[in-house]
Amino acid sequence: MSTISLADLSRLSIADIDVSGKVIFFRTDLNVPMAEGQITDTTRIDRTAPGIADLAARGAKVVVAAHYGRPKGERVDSMSLEPIAPALAKAIDQNVAFVSDCIGAEVEAAVASMANGDVLLLENLRFHQGEEKGDADFAAALAKGIDLYVNDAFSASHRAHASISVIAGLVPSYAGPLMAAELTALAAALEVPKKPVVAVVGGAKVSTKLAVLNNLVAKVDALIIGGGMANTFLFAQGVDIGASLAETDMADQARAILTNADAAGCRIILPVDVIVAKEFKAGADARHLTLGKDHLDADDMILDAGPETVALAVDALNTAKTLVWNGPMGAFEIKPFDAATVDLARQAAILTRMNGLISVAGGGDTVAALAAAGVDDKFHYVSTAGGAFLEWMEGKTLPGVAALLGQA
Ligand code: 3PG
Ligand code: MG
Repeated sequence: MSTISLADLSRLSIADIDVSGKVIFFRTDLNVPMAEGQITDTTRIDRTAPGIADLAARGAKVVVAAHYGRPKGERVDSMSLEPIAPALAKAIDQNVAFVSDCIGAEVEAAVASMANGDVLLLENLRFHQGEEKGDADFAAALAKGIDLYVNDAFSASHRAHASISVIAGLVPSYAGPLMAAELTALAAALEVPKKPVVAVVGGAKVSTKLAVLNNLVAKVDALIIGGGMANTFLFAQGVDIGASLAETDMADQARAILTNADAAGCRIILPVDVIVAKEFKAGADARHLTLGKDHLDADDMILDAGPETVALAVDALNTAKTLVWNGPMGAFEIKPFDAATVDLARQAAILTRMNGLISVAGGGDTVAALAAAGVDDKFHYVSTAGGAFLEWMEGKTLPGVAALLGQA
């Protein structure tokens, strides 16, 4: 992992650059969830908006570029960024013009007619194949008429795409304020953390988080494992898990992680008690069982961690200085199986306020779970990133960050 120093951050920051009259290609992540043409969560827009508004207020001509969905290099009308323009305008409290492509004569004309302080939104970058391919000609077309490049899209910076990593080699490149905030928070959480560090990793599958788990056991003092993936670890240890969701073919890998943790002095906290039900539906008849003591029926499914497990996790957090959280502790989408996630999240929020716990969380599900617990604004930092947060937890240098650092 490339450790980002504070010196790097101030060198990369657009904050102190004279941008007046400059055309800035501002790469951000506007990949917000939509249902029936309505944005259902504006977090990503709201978090990048101040950076756009600030550059416009400083007299830059801000050309905002982003992807939406996965149109695979073709124009797909349902993935147009046009409906996002009014939401962006509202968030920055100024007009946002829209142009129906991201390269070509129409874009060049629109950019040429911008006045200082104007904001222009380009159409979905992924309507062109060159974007995902990281094509040099496409990147050059994007850079045409551009004075400076700003990457404010940490959450898309795990993609070595033309607008993320390639363009950074073509024009002077800087980190936007959201990018800088993400990098600062993540560095404080895992790269140069205050110890002890506790990680919570949950979610359904071990297989999607193997690299995360292996990286974390080498770095953190305690690792709390929750969600469906905990079942796989319990199974690997010979615990009866009834009909629970588990990746039984991952048992060897799970045991290897436990061995690595032991060697690295990382304490692993797995469920000692669980909430089971015979059906996964709201209001299902749920029972609390202590593992190794109470009997699980063959058709019982573990759907959440129990209160004794949460108490063990809270004990670990009590003495921790830093918390990194990715993934829910149980099947939090359906009550009552949200209890462990909600309780632990609330305790972490209290410790953040009372103990100065540096609590950092990320990943799509995680943020939804924290929001459901009412504490997403009570953590030290909640990342806007999903996949990028995971790759960062794996210890990878994200291509977009490497490009800014000049290491691409
Ligand atoms: C995300 O939503 O995680 C980012 O915008 C990246 O999108 P992608 O997974 O389609 O590359
Ligand atoms: Mg994604």
